[in-house]
Amino acid sequence: MEAAIATDLDVYPIGSLRETIDFLEDGTGVKPCKIDVEQVFNQALKYPMDFSDVKGQETAKRALEVAAAGGHNILMVGPPGSGKTMLARRLPTILPNLTMEEALEVTKIYSVSGLLPANTALIATRQFCSPHHTISDAGLIGGGRVPKPGQVSLAHHGVLFLDEMPEFRKDILEMLRQPMEDGQVTISRSMVSLTYPSQFMLVGAMNPCPCGFFGDANHDCTCNPGQIQKYMSKVSGPLLDRIDIHIEVPAVKFKDLAAEPTGEKSDSIRERVNHARRIQLMRFNDEPGMFCNAHMESKDLQKFCPLDSKSLELLRTAITKLGLSARAYDRIIKVSRTIADIEAAEQIETRHISEAIQYRSLDRNLWM
Ligand SMILES: Nc1ncnc2c1ncn2[C@@H]1O[C@H](COP(=O)(O)OP(=O)(O)O)[C@@H](O)[C@H]1O
Ligand SMILES: [Mg+2]
Ligand SMILES: [Zn+2]
Repeated sequence: MEAAIATDLDVYPIGSLRETIDFLEDGTGVKPCKIDVEQVFNQALKYPMDFSDVKGQETAKRALEVAAAGGHNILMVGPPGSGKTMLARRLPTILPNLTMEEALEVTKIYSVSGLLPANTALIATRQFCSPHHTISDAGLIGGGRVPKPGQVSLAHHGVLFLDEMPEFRKDILEMLRQPMEDGQVTISRSMVSLTYPSQFMLVGAMNPCPCGFFGDANHDCTCNPGQIQKYMSKVSGPLLDRIDIHIEVPAVKFKDLAAEPTGEKSDSIRERVNHARRIQLMRFNDEPGMFCNAHMESKDLQKFCPLDSKSLELLRTAITKLGLSARAYDRIIKVSRTIADIEAAEQIETRHISEAIQYRSLDRNLWM
């Protein structure tokens, strides 16, 4: 079936040798399989869930919109039941529409994995992969006797969600560094070496402490400071360094839960995201391999994110007064660029910086 979209040719799906012979003899019996690509793409945008299902949590929703708009990895910290998983599952619904080229890449990965659903010619939706924390190396990165793509590749152009992130073994989390940096993984076995793409958005979720209620207004936390620090330190280091946005997701207020959902629909959020991405595509037109703000490295910031003196001053104050880490500096500028892109502002302004500073909660937190 997949072959039908790859070319303009008619493709004849033939199930048996008998059918082949009949077909070759009189050209009957088998109908050519044509795929209406436009219809596949339209259908793909009809997700079974929507951002508007989530009540309240306006700050978290906005942070996810910013993350989607700039391709930034994001970590959500909050007590059980606050809606972290619910929010993460809805991220694909606001990511930019897949291009044909991207859809073909995703389809290829699912096809070689034997995971292409029956009667599916083209995967045109952003995928959401949520591996359990007990996942093996091979399951995550890819591998096996006949090397198969892992979750990092099945999440290509989509979302890799690490729920309860501190529960993952540290060495497993570390293994994500390379695929995140390179956008691809190479799996070597004695006989073969295969490379699969792995460009995903990482979304992490975690409780603020082992019992889950540190800082919660409605429950007492039963953990001691040592336990909390040990728990938080599990996500520190190189992986956390690649997460531009971290936010706290507090328990939903009862009045929000009791109310009718009033939030914005995914479709209209996605329109803003698409628009912000188009601006980025133009910005990075001459930069091979770069297509969203998250791809900028320190050396690119001077060129693409010049700051005026007011913004610089605000940033300096935040770093010193709030005790933000030096690594936060670059992240804040990158995320500010995305926030400015969402409103199509040419220049990064102080209000964009102020908002981006809000998305560094782990940097200024008590526990770290
Ligand atoms: N903001 C919210 N709006 C509507 N329902 C919510 C919200 N937050 C939580 N829920 C309900 O609570 C359930 C548990 O939320 P979940 O996303 O699993 O929380 P967490 O991952 O933070 O523990 C959800 O399936 C949903 O039914
Ligand atoms: Mg959860
Ligand atoms: Zn606790």
